[in-house]
Amino acid sequence: MASDLGVFLGELLRRPAEVVAIAPSSGAVARRMTEGVEDVDGPIVEIGPGTGSFTKAILARGVAPERVTLLETNARFCETLQQKFPGVTVLNRPAQEIDQIGLAGVGAVISGVPVLARPQIQRDVVGRALGVMAPGGFFSQITYSPNAPIGPQIQRELGVSAEKRGTVWANLPPARVFVFRRLRH
Ligand SMILES: C[S@@+](CC[C@H](N)C(=O)[O-])C[C@H]1O[C@@H](n2cnc3c(N)ncnc32)[C@H](O)[C@@H]1O
Repeated sequence: MASDLGVFLGELLRRPAEVVAIAPSSGAVARRMTEGVEDVDGPIVEIGPGTGSFTKAILARGVAPERVTLLETNARFCETLQQKFPGVTVLNRPAQEIDQIGLAGVGAVISGVPVLARPQIQRDVVGRALGVMAPGGFFSQITYSPNAPIGPQIQRELGVSAEKRGTVWANLPPARVFVFRRLRH
């Protein structure tokens, strides 16, 4: 079977605008991205899982595979994910359809989907995710920018706050993790 890196690089060459990153995220980023999934109830949805760095970390935190749903647009990645993670639901569908897959009360959304400088994707993906999330749920997003990948104007529009969890230098390139939560009124 091809290595994760081999599959990832192959798909990066075929679909650079979709895959965007130059390698799968490191274990250190995956641990930071998934902090807190062990403390929430309900389904956990991962969007843009690629070859599954974050999926592995979600399961390593003790979340039952049956609670985990993956939304990934790349069919080749979906095949890999299905083989690697039995019991996890793998859907070859875009993250923009998160509100059409029959889930509610979602405890956490873990996102590898490239959203930086893509305002329509920010509105569609984060906005629709908020619609199916539990009140105390969180949306965790990787970015390579030092700033929140969703700017203040769209944060206000969506009614979320942004918290920087930190920078992970042990990644190619170094990555930041931001967490978005619904503002309480
Ligand atoms: C930067 S890679 C991240 C992969 C993985 N999470 C990691 O960190 O190693 C982005 C992933 O998002 C997927 N993707 C891009 N747009 C998407 C969308 N709208 N919905 C679901 N997946 C998407 C790509 O196919 C790719 O697997």
